[in-house]
Formats: sequence, structure tokens, C-alpha cells
Amino acid sequence: MGGWAKEIEEAASILSRSTQAVATCGAGVSAESGISTFRDEGGIWDRIDPMEVGTPSGLINTLERDAEKLLPLFIEILDTFEQAEPNPGHFALADLEDMEILKTVITQNTDNLHQEAGNTDLIEVHGNMFRMKCLACYQTKKYDRKKLIEEIREKLGQIREYNISTLASLAPRCNMCGFITRPDVVMFSEAVQDLPRAYKVSGECDTMLVLGTSGVVYPAAYFPMEARKKGAKIIVINPTENAFPSITDVYIPVKTGEALPAIVNLIRGEAA
Ligand code: OAD
Repeated sequence: MGGWAKEIEEAASILSRSTQAVATCGAGVSAESGISTFRDEGGIWDRIDPMEVGTPSGLINTLERDAEKLLPLFIEILDTFEQAEPNPGHFALADLEDMEILKTVITQNTDNLHQEAGNTDLIEVHGNMFRMKCLACYQTKKYDRKKLIEEIREKLGQIREYNISTLASLAPRCNMCGFITRPDVVMFSEAVQDLPRAYKVSGECDTMLVLGTSGVVYPAAYFPMEARKKGAKIIVINPTENAFPSITDVYIPVKTGEALPAIVNLIRGEAA
């Protein structure tokens, strides 16, 4: 693990004594699954203005004005999410849960990869792309990631004119009332999901792993502060930046897909 063996050992030593660890995850955790982060060079917000697609009103305005403009991005999202698979970092988090070290994963990611890797106690503060929410009755329904993308792709192939109503028709109809649905994800200006529980587990954890996040978006960026305030050890893993230097016990500047499996191996008594 290059020059960071000491930090990896420190993290393994802290985690091996933990029984109530919590991981706070950002887009970096899915980067090695081929999903673009938001703020790295070439990331999503480098290529498209968040005000055009990141708020409900911005997205509706853009779709009404020029729906075709969003088509390449939409197709890229379908391709990326169809091909993505959990990476070794996701699997290592599931291993830490199996080892009764990690209690909960709090994630800002909406890609469903933590569940697919095997984590069972999950708080998705920005929602889940594959859970659809009815715009009329708010009923939600979870879909299989790949099946949903396949269905959307089929419908997309039949569209002759791209506009807000033809694009809205790509999503499945509500199974309760038959109205239009949208992905149950949190856009800017919308309330984050499951926030009280996220604060509660942050305040109760003995170690917090802060993984692949720029720490720019609140309230998610408060979780490490809350954990530290209540005495938890803070381990940050991020190859390019540590957004929480003043509260960090161990900083590992390595990709999560490399550092987390190395930590798990050390805890199991295997060489990193
Ligand atoms: P960002 O794109 O802001 O930050 C991604 C972080 O991941 C950066 O700090 C990178 O250095 C780091 N990173 C890149 N590759 C990595 C790797 N292989 N292993 C570990 N870390 C890596 O993403 P978030 O912090 O998740 O919100 O952004 C938070 C929110 O901003 C998102 O959930 C989204 C966005 O606007 C909404 O859409 C509401």
C-alpha cells in the first residue's frame, strides 16, 4: 500500500477494537465502479450546471426549454448505472458489517451499490435512484437496477420527439394511483432523507470512517463533526483531499477500493 502502510495499520487497529463503527460515504466510494464523482476534474458539475439539472425547478425549466440538450447526459447516466458493479471498497464495507465492526453505512450515493455489496443497515440521505416516487400520492416502489434501466432504454428507443412529457413517460407509472413517478433522490433545495437517524448513529458510533467525500454538501458534512463531538475516532480515506483535517485521527490518501480491503485483511490477520 505504498507509503501508507502505517496509516492503514493504525486504521485497522482502531477498527479492530470497534463494535459501533459508522461509515459516511460520498461519490468517491463509487468512483472505482465507473461512476463519475461530482466535483473532481471532469466530474458531473464540471460538465453541467447544477442549477440546470440539480433542482426540481431548474430541471423542469431545462426540459421545457430544450429537452434534447439533456439527452446525452441522460444516456450516459443509463450506460454508467447499467454497467456499474460494487467495487472492492463496497465489499470491504460489507465485510466490516459481517465482522460486527461496522454498524451502519450513511451514504450520499444513490446508486444502490452498498445494498448490492451486502450492507444491510444503510441510511441513504440523498435517496435511491432506483426507488421511484409518485408525484401524486408519494407512494414509493423499489425496482431492480438493471431491469429498470432496460425498460427505460426500450421506451427511449420508441420516442420520436424528446420533450418534457415524452421523457416523463419513460418512468414506470405509480402502482397505486397510476400517476407519473420520479426517482426518489434528493435534489438541491429538497429535504435530505432519514436525517434524524443519521445524526443519531453518528453521535453513537465509536469510529467514523469518512470515505470519498469532498465534505462540501451539508448536512452530510456535519456527520463527522457530530461523531467527533461525542468522542468517536475519525478515519478519513480519500486519495486527493481531507475535508476534515481538524478532527481527523488517521488520514489515508489512498482510493477506498484499495485501502478498505487492505484494512479488512489486516484485521483478519492477513498481510496487506
Ligand atoms: P464530490 O464529487 O464532491 O467528492 C468526491 C470525493 O471523492 C472527492 O473528495 C475525491 O477526492 C474523492 N475520490 C475520488 N476518487 C476516489 C476514490 N477512488 N476513493 C476515495 N475517494 C475518491 O462528491 P460528494 O462529496 O459525495 O448531492 O458530494 C456530495 C453531494 O454533492 C452528492 O451527493 C450530490 C452532489 O451535489 C446531491 O445531488 C444532492
